[in-house]
Amino acid sequence: MIPLVLSGGNGTRLWPISRGGFPKQFHALTGEHTLFQQTVMRLDLPNIEAPIVVCNQSHRFIVTEQLKQIGRDAQQVLLEPFGRNTAPAVALAAMRLLNAGRDELLLVLPADHVIKNQQAFAAALEQAQAAAEKGDLVLFGVPAVSPETGYGYIRTSVSEVAAAGPRPVEQFVEKPDLDTARQYVEEGCYYWNSGMFLLRCSRYLDELKQYSPDIYDTCALALSTSHEDGEFLRIDGEVFEYCPDDSIDYAVMEKTATATVVPLDAGWSDVGSWSSLWEEQDKDESGNVLRGDVQQLGCHGSYAHATDKLLTLIGLDDVVAVETKDAVLIAHKDRVQDIKAVVNGLASAG
Ligand code: GDD
Ligand code: MG
Repeated sequence: MIPLVLSGGNGTRLWPISRGGFPKQFHALTGEHTLFQQTVMRLDLPNIEAPIVVCNQSHRFIVTEQLKQIGRDAQQVLLEPFGRNTAPAVALAAMRLLNAGRDELLLVLPADHVIKNQQAFAAALEQAQAAAEKGDLVLFGVPAVSPETGYGYIRTSVSEVAAAGPRPVEQFVEKPDLDTARQYVEEGCYYWNSGMFLLRCSRYLDELKQYSPDIYDTCALALSTSHEDGEFLRIDGEVFEYCPDDSIDYAVMEKTATATVVPLDAGWSDVGSWSSLWEEQDKDESGNVLRGDVQQLGCHGSYAHATDKLLTLIGLDDVVAVETKDAVLIAHKDRVQDIKAVVNGLASAG
Protein backbone atom coordinates (compact mmCIF):
# COMPACT_ATOMS: atom_id res chain seq x y z
CA MET A 1 0.00 0.00 0.00
CA ILE A 2 1.44 3.36 -1.02
CA PRO A 3 0.20 6.49 0.73
CA LEU A 4 -0.37 9.59 -1.33
CA VAL A 5 -0.39 12.73 0.78
CA LEU A 6 -2.34 15.52 -0.91
CA SER A 7 -0.72 18.72 0.26
CA GLY A 8 -1.63 21.20 -2.41
CA GLY A 9 -4.71 22.87 -0.96
CA ASN A 10 -4.89 26.48 0.11
CA GLY A 11 -6.87 25.94 3.32
CA THR A 12 -8.78 29.09 2.51
CA ARG A 13 -11.35 28.59 5.26
CA LEU A 14 -8.63 28.98 7.89
CA TRP A 15 -7.73 32.44 6.67
CA PRO A 16 -6.07 34.62 7.96
CA ILE A 17 -3.59 32.15 9.52
CA SER A 18 -3.61 29.86 6.49
CA ARG A 19 -2.15 31.72 3.50
CA GLY A 20 -1.16 30.80 -0.05
CA GLY A 21 2.55 30.85 0.81
CA PHE A 22 2.08 28.81 3.98
CA PRO A 23 -1.26 26.99 4.02
CA LYS A 24 -2.87 25.30 6.98
CA GLN A 25 -1.43 21.80 6.48
CA PHE A 26 2.01 23.21 7.32
CA HIS A 27 0.87 24.84 10.59
CA ALA A 28 0.78 23.23 14.04
CA LEU A 29 -2.87 23.99 14.79
CA THR A 30 -3.71 21.14 17.13
CA GLY A 31 -0.48 20.13 18.81
CA GLU A 32 3.27 20.01 18.56
CA HIS A 33 3.47 18.79 14.96
CA THR A 34 1.99 20.30 11.84
CA LEU A 35 -1.03 18.61 10.27
CA PHE A 36 1.18 17.43 7.38
CA GLN A 37 3.67 15.88 9.81
CA GLN A 38 0.88 14.19 11.78
CA THR A 39 -0.42 12.68 8.53
CA VAL A 40 2.96 11.17 7.69
CA MET A 41 3.62 9.94 11.23
CA ARG A 42 0.27 8.15 11.23
CA LEU A 43 1.62 5.88 8.49
CA ASP A 44 4.11 4.03 10.69
CA LEU A 45 2.25 0.77 10.08
CA PRO A 46 3.25 -2.61 8.67
CA ASN A 47 2.96 -2.98 4.87
CA ILE A 48 2.83 0.76 4.24
CA GLU A 49 5.59 2.20 2.12
CA ALA A 50 7.08 5.69 2.34
CA PRO A 51 4.59 8.24 1.01
CA ILE A 52 4.31 10.04 -2.28
CA VAL A 53 3.61 13.73 -1.71
CA VAL A 54 1.88 15.94 -4.27
CA CYS A 55 2.18 19.63 -3.51
CA ASN A 56 2.58 23.03 -5.06
CA GLN A 57 6.10 23.71 -6.31
CA SER A 58 6.40 26.76 -4.07
CA HIS A 59 5.97 24.53 -0.99
CA ARG A 60 8.68 22.00 -1.90
CA PHE A 61 11.16 23.14 0.72
CA ILE A 62 8.48 23.36 3.41
CA VAL A 63 7.65 19.71 2.63
CA THR A 64 11.25 18.48 2.69
CA GLU A 65 12.06 20.50 5.81
CA GLN A 66 8.99 19.25 7.68
CA LEU A 67 9.76 15.64 6.70
CA LYS A 68 13.35 16.06 7.87
CA GLN A 69 12.16 17.41 11.22
CA ILE A 70 10.31 14.16 11.89
CA GLY A 71 13.01 11.91 10.40
CA ARG A 72 10.90 10.66 7.47
CA ASP A 73 11.44 10.47 3.72
CA ALA A 74 9.04 10.61 0.81
CA GLN A 75 9.50 8.07 -1.97
CA GLN A 76 8.54 10.77 -4.46
CA VAL A 77 7.50 14.42 -4.37
CA LEU A 78 5.45 15.59 -7.33
CA LEU A 79 5.38 19.34 -7.82
CA GLU A 80 2.36 21.02 -9.36
CA PRO A 81 2.98 24.48 -10.86
CA PHE A 82 -0.56 25.37 -9.73
CA GLY A 83 -3.44 23.42 -8.24
CA ARG A 84 -6.04 21.75 -10.38
CA ASN A 85 -7.73 20.14 -7.39
CA THR A 86 -7.60 16.55 -6.22
CA ALA A 87 -8.76 14.49 -9.24
CA PRO A 88 -5.66 15.47 -11.27
CA ALA A 89 -3.33 15.25 -8.26
CA VAL A 90 -4.37 11.63 -7.64
CA ALA A 91 -4.20 10.87 -11.38
CA LEU A 92 -0.60 12.11 -11.64
CA ALA A 93 0.53 9.86 -8.79
CA ALA A 94 -1.42 6.84 -10.07
CA MET A 95 -0.04 7.26 -13.60
CA ARG A 96 3.48 7.72 -12.31
CA LEU A 97 3.26 4.39 -10.45
CA LEU A 98 1.61 2.58 -13.36
CA ASN A 99 4.29 3.86 -15.74
CA ALA A 100 6.83 2.24 -13.39
CA GLY A 101 4.91 -1.04 -13.64
CA ARG A 102 3.49 -0.70 -10.13
CA ASP A 103 -0.27 -1.11 -10.12
CA GLU A 104 -0.41 -0.73 -6.35
CA LEU A 105 -3.11 0.20 -3.87
CA LEU A 106 -2.94 3.93 -3.37
CA LEU A 107 -4.00 5.28 0.00
CA VAL A 108 -5.10 8.84 -0.70
CA LEU A 109 -4.79 11.06 2.35
CA PRO A 110 -5.57 14.72 2.87
CA ALA A 111 -2.69 16.44 4.67
CA ASP A 112 -4.91 18.41 6.98
CA HIS A 113 -6.91 16.05 9.19
CA VAL A 114 -6.78 14.91 12.77
CA ILE A 115 -7.21 11.21 13.64
CA LYS A 116 -7.00 10.50 17.34
CA ASN A 117 -7.29 6.72 17.43
CA GLN A 118 -4.40 5.18 15.55
CA GLN A 119 -5.52 1.59 16.22
CA ALA A 120 -8.98 2.19 14.79
CA PHE A 121 -7.38 3.88 11.76
CA ALA A 122 -5.19 0.81 11.19
CA ALA A 123 -8.20 -1.52 11.57
CA ALA A 124 -10.20 0.46 8.99
CA LEU A 125 -7.27 0.24 6.56
CA GLU A 126 -7.23 -3.51 6.93
CA GLN A 127 -10.95 -3.74 6.14
CA ALA A 128 -10.51 -1.47 3.17
CA GLN A 129 -7.67 -3.46 1.69
CA ALA A 130 -9.79 -6.51 0.84
CA ALA A 131 -12.40 -4.37 -0.96
CA ALA A 132 -9.77 -2.36 -2.85
CA GLU A 133 -8.02 -5.54 -3.92
CA LYS A 134 -11.29 -6.67 -5.53
CA GLY A 135 -11.24 -3.46 -7.56
CA ASP A 136 -13.62 -1.28 -5.58
CA LEU A 137 -12.93 2.38 -4.91
CA VAL A 138 -12.99 2.55 -1.13
CA LEU A 139 -14.09 5.56 0.90
CA PHE A 140 -13.84 5.92 4.67
CA GLY A 141 -17.10 7.15 6.19
CA VAL A 142 -17.80 8.94 9.44
CA PRO A 143 -21.45 8.93 10.65
CA ALA A 144 -23.02 12.25 9.60
CA VAL A 145 -24.24 13.84 12.81
CA SER A 146 -24.70 17.48 11.78
CA PRO A 147 -25.56 19.19 8.48
CA GLU A 148 -22.04 20.25 7.46
CA THR A 149 -22.10 21.60 3.91
CA GLY A 150 -18.34 21.26 3.38
CA TYR A 151 -18.42 17.45 3.23
CA GLY A 152 -19.36 14.72 0.81
CA TYR A 153 -22.30 12.52 1.93
CA ILE A 154 -22.32 8.75 1.43
CA ARG A 155 -25.61 6.90 1.49
CA THR A 156 -25.51 3.18 2.18
CA SER A 157 -28.06 0.44 1.93
CA VAL A 158 -27.56 -0.46 5.56
CA SER A 159 -29.62 1.90 7.67
CA GLU A 160 -27.67 0.94 10.78
CA VAL A 161 -24.83 3.35 10.13
CA ALA A 162 -22.97 2.34 13.28
CA ALA A 163 -22.69 -1.32 12.21
CA ALA A 164 -19.17 -2.47 11.45
CA GLY A 165 -17.74 -3.65 8.14
CA PRO A 166 -17.53 -2.44 4.57
CA ARG A 167 -20.72 -1.96 2.58
CA PRO A 168 -21.58 -0.76 -0.94
CA VAL A 169 -22.16 2.94 -1.55
CA GLU A 170 -25.68 3.63 -2.82
CA GLN A 171 -25.16 7.28 -3.55
CA PHE A 172 -22.45 9.87 -3.09
CA VAL A 173 -23.27 13.57 -2.99
CA GLU A 174 -20.47 16.11 -2.69
CA LYS A 175 -21.12 19.24 -0.65
CA PRO A 176 -24.94 19.36 -0.66
CA ASP A 177 -26.76 22.58 0.24
CA LEU A 178 -27.85 23.10 3.84
CA ASP A 179 -31.44 21.87 3.41
CA THR A 180 -30.29 18.69 1.70
CA ALA A 181 -27.61 18.09 4.33
CA ARG A 182 -30.23 18.52 7.07
CA GLN A 183 -32.46 15.98 5.37
CA TYR A 184 -29.58 13.50 5.11
CA VAL A 185 -28.73 13.84 8.78
CA GLU A 186 -32.39 13.30 9.73
CA GLU A 187 -32.59 10.17 7.58
CA GLY A 188 -29.70 8.78 9.60
CA CYS A 189 -28.19 6.45 7.00
CA TYR A 190 -25.48 8.77 5.71
CA TYR A 191 -21.79 9.02 6.36
CA TRP A 192 -19.60 12.02 5.80
CA ASN A 193 -16.80 11.31 3.40
CA SER A 194 -13.56 11.56 5.36
CA GLY A 195 -11.64 12.50 2.20
CA MET A 196 -9.39 9.43 2.44
CA PHE A 197 -9.60 6.78 -0.27
CA LEU A 198 -8.03 3.42 -1.03
CA LEU A 199 -7.84 2.70 -4.76
CA ARG A 200 -5.92 0.47 -7.09
CA CYS A 201 -4.11 2.83 -9.48
CA SER A 202 -5.51 1.21 -12.66
CA ARG A 203 -9.06 1.13 -11.29
CA TYR A 204 -9.03 4.83 -10.43
CA LEU A 205 -7.61 5.69 -13.82
CA ASP A 206 -10.23 3.53 -15.61
CA GLU A 207 -13.01 5.40 -13.83
CA LEU A 208 -11.37 8.77 -14.43
CA LYS A 209 -10.97 8.00 -18.11
CA GLN A 210 -14.65 7.09 -18.33
CA TYR A 211 -16.11 10.01 -16.38
CA SER A 212 -13.53 12.78 -16.83
CA PRO A 213 -11.53 11.95 -19.97
CA ASP A 214 -10.16 15.50 -20.26
CA ILE A 215 -8.48 15.23 -16.87
CA TYR A 216 -7.13 11.80 -17.76
CA ASP A 217 -5.70 12.90 -21.10
CA THR A 218 -4.20 16.16 -19.84
CA CYS A 219 -2.55 14.49 -16.86
CA ALA A 220 -1.09 11.73 -19.04
CA LEU A 221 0.38 14.32 -21.38
CA ALA A 222 1.61 16.62 -18.59
CA LEU A 223 3.34 13.68 -16.94
CA SER A 224 5.05 12.62 -20.15
CA THR A 225 6.62 16.06 -20.54
CA SER A 226 7.43 16.60 -16.85
CA HIS A 227 11.02 16.58 -15.70
CA GLU A 228 13.04 15.21 -12.82
CA ASP A 229 14.70 17.78 -10.61
CA GLY A 230 16.73 15.97 -7.96
CA GLU A 231 14.28 14.47 -5.52
CA PHE A 232 11.34 16.24 -7.20
CA LEU A 233 9.28 15.63 -10.31
CA ARG A 234 8.14 18.92 -11.81
CA ILE A 235 4.82 18.64 -13.63
CA ASP A 236 4.83 20.43 -16.96
CA GLY A 237 2.82 23.62 -16.45
CA GLU A 238 2.38 24.37 -20.15
CA VAL A 239 0.27 21.22 -20.49
CA PHE A 240 -1.17 21.05 -16.97
CA GLU A 241 -2.61 24.53 -17.48
CA TYR A 242 -5.25 22.95 -19.72
CA CYS A 243 -6.31 20.41 -17.11
CA PRO A 244 -9.87 20.91 -15.83
CA ASP A 245 -10.02 21.88 -12.15
CA ASP A 246 -12.06 19.24 -10.33
CA SER A 247 -12.03 17.20 -7.16
CA ILE A 248 -11.93 13.41 -7.02
CA ASP A 249 -15.31 13.66 -5.29
CA TYR A 250 -17.14 15.37 -8.18
CA ALA A 251 -15.06 13.89 -11.01
CA VAL A 252 -15.20 10.24 -9.94
CA MET A 253 -16.87 9.45 -6.62
CA GLU A 254 -20.27 10.93 -7.47
CA LYS A 255 -20.32 8.91 -10.69
CA THR A 256 -18.68 5.56 -10.10
CA ALA A 257 -20.81 2.45 -9.63
CA THR A 258 -18.18 0.48 -7.75
CA ALA A 259 -17.62 2.32 -4.50
CA THR A 260 -17.46 0.72 -1.06
CA VAL A 261 -17.51 2.55 2.24
CA VAL A 262 -15.61 1.43 5.31
CA PRO A 263 -16.85 3.03 8.53
CA LEU A 264 -14.17 4.98 10.34
CA ASP A 265 -14.56 5.39 14.08
CA ALA A 266 -11.15 6.80 14.85
CA GLY A 267 -11.73 10.27 16.26
CA TRP A 268 -11.52 11.71 12.75
CA SER A 269 -11.84 15.41 12.37
CA ASP A 270 -11.42 17.67 9.40
CA VAL A 271 -9.94 20.82 10.80
CA GLY A 272 -11.24 22.50 7.70
CA SER A 273 -12.79 25.50 9.37
CA TRP A 274 -12.50 27.55 12.52
CA SER A 275 -15.64 25.92 13.91
CA SER A 276 -14.21 22.41 13.48
CA LEU A 277 -11.00 23.56 15.11
CA TRP A 278 -13.08 24.86 18.01
CA GLU A 279 -14.93 21.53 18.27
CA GLU A 280 -11.69 19.60 18.20
CA GLN A 281 -9.95 21.28 21.12
CA ASP A 282 -10.22 21.45 24.90
CA LYS A 283 -12.46 24.28 26.07
CA ASP A 284 -12.59 26.46 29.17
CA GLU A 285 -15.59 26.25 31.52
CA SER A 286 -17.62 28.57 29.24
CA GLY A 287 -16.90 26.53 26.14
CA ASN A 288 -14.29 28.88 24.70
CA VAL A 289 -11.05 27.91 22.99
CA LEU A 290 -8.41 30.60 23.45
CA ARG A 291 -4.99 30.43 21.79
CA GLY A 292 -2.20 32.96 22.06
CA ASP A 293 -2.44 36.25 23.92
CA VAL A 294 -6.22 36.33 24.43
CA GLN A 295 -8.47 37.52 27.27
CA GLN A 296 -12.22 37.23 27.50
CA LEU A 297 -15.04 38.31 29.78
CA GLY A 298 -18.54 36.81 29.61
CA CYS A 299 -18.00 34.98 26.31
CA HIS A 300 -19.36 31.53 25.50
CA GLY A 301 -18.69 28.94 22.85
CA SER A 302 -16.15 31.12 21.08
CA TYR A 303 -12.79 30.58 19.39
CA ALA A 304 -10.14 33.26 19.71
CA HIS A 305 -6.64 33.00 18.30
CA ALA A 306 -4.05 35.76 18.51
CA THR A 307 -0.63 35.60 16.90
CA ASP A 308 0.64 39.15 17.23
CA LYS A 309 -1.36 41.36 19.59
CA LEU A 310 -3.43 41.09 22.73
CA LEU A 311 -6.95 40.10 21.67
CA THR A 312 -9.83 40.94 24.02
CA LEU A 313 -13.42 39.67 23.69
CA ILE A 314 -16.27 40.88 25.91
CA GLY A 315 -19.80 39.49 26.08
CA LEU A 316 -19.72 37.55 22.83
CA ASP A 317 -21.20 34.13 22.14
CA ASP A 318 -20.35 31.73 19.31
CA VAL A 319 -17.83 34.04 17.75
CA VAL A 320 -14.60 33.32 15.90
CA ALA A 321 -11.92 35.99 16.29
CA VAL A 322 -8.52 35.47 14.69
CA GLU A 323 -5.79 38.08 14.75
CA THR A 324 -2.59 38.04 12.67
CA LYS A 325 -0.02 40.70 11.86
CA ASP A 326 -1.84 41.97 8.79
CA ALA A 327 -5.43 40.75 8.98
CA VAL A 328 -8.20 40.21 11.52
CA LEU A 329 -11.24 37.97 11.15
CA ILE A 330 -14.40 38.36 13.23
CA ALA A 331 -17.20 35.97 12.27
CA HIS A 332 -20.18 34.16 13.70
CA LYS A 333 -19.19 30.55 14.34
CA ASP A 334 -22.07 29.35 12.13
CA ARG A 335 -20.87 31.39 9.16
CA VAL A 336 -17.24 30.34 8.91
CA GLN A 337 -17.85 28.31 5.73
CA ASP A 338 -18.38 31.68 4.01
CA ILE A 339 -14.77 32.71 4.57
CA LYS A 340 -13.83 30.85 1.40
CA ALA A 341 -16.02 33.12 -0.75
CA VAL A 342 -14.74 36.24 0.97
CA VAL A 343 -11.08 35.27 0.58
CA ASN A 344 -11.58 34.27 -3.05
CA GLY A 345 -13.17 37.70 -3.56
CA LEU A 346 -10.12 39.36 -1.98
CA ALA A 347 -7.82 37.38 -4.29
CA SER A 348 -9.74 38.32 -7.42
CA ALA A 349 -9.80 41.94 -6.32
CA GLY A 350 -5.98 41.67 -6.18
N1 GDD B 1 -1.72 18.27 -4.56
C1 GDD B 1 -2.87 18.88 -4.44
N2 GDD B 1 -3.32 19.66 -5.48
N3 GDD B 1 -3.59 18.74 -3.31
C2 GDD B 1 -4.75 19.38 -3.22
C3 GDD B 1 -5.28 20.20 -4.25
C4 GDD B 1 -4.50 20.35 -5.44
O1 GDD B 1 -4.84 21.04 -6.41
N4 GDD B 1 -6.46 20.72 -3.84
C5 GDD B 1 -6.68 20.23 -2.60
N5 GDD B 1 -5.66 19.44 -2.20
C6 GDD B 1 -5.49 18.73 -0.94
C7 GDD B 1 -5.77 19.59 0.29
O2 GDD B 1 -4.56 20.14 0.79
C8 GDD B 1 -6.38 18.58 1.24
O3 GDD B 1 -5.34 17.92 1.96
C9 GDD B 1 -7.06 17.55 0.34
O4 GDD B 1 -6.46 17.69 -0.94
C10 GDD B 1 -8.59 17.72 0.20
O5 GDD B 1 -8.84 18.97 -0.37
P1 GDD B 1 -9.83 20.03 0.29
O6 GDD B 1 -9.84 21.24 -0.58
O7 GDD B 1 -9.50 20.19 1.73
O8 GDD B 1 -11.22 19.28 0.11
P2 GDD B 1 -12.53 19.55 0.95
O9 GDD B 1 -12.23 19.56 2.41
O10 GDD B 1 -13.22 20.74 0.39
O11 GDD B 1 -13.43 18.25 0.63
C11 GDD B 1 -12.90 16.94 0.71
O12 GDD B 1 -12.69 16.52 2.07
C12 GDD B 1 -13.90 16.43 2.87
C13 GDD B 1 -13.52 15.93 4.26
O13 GDD B 1 -12.55 16.71 4.80
C14 GDD B 1 -13.90 16.02 0.02
O14 GDD B 1 -13.29 14.77 -0.17
C15 GDD B 1 -15.20 15.88 0.81
O15 GDD B 1 -16.03 14.90 0.21
C16 GDD B 1 -14.87 15.43 2.23
O16 GDD B 1 -16.06 15.32 3.00
MG1 MG C 1 -10.56 19.80 3.49
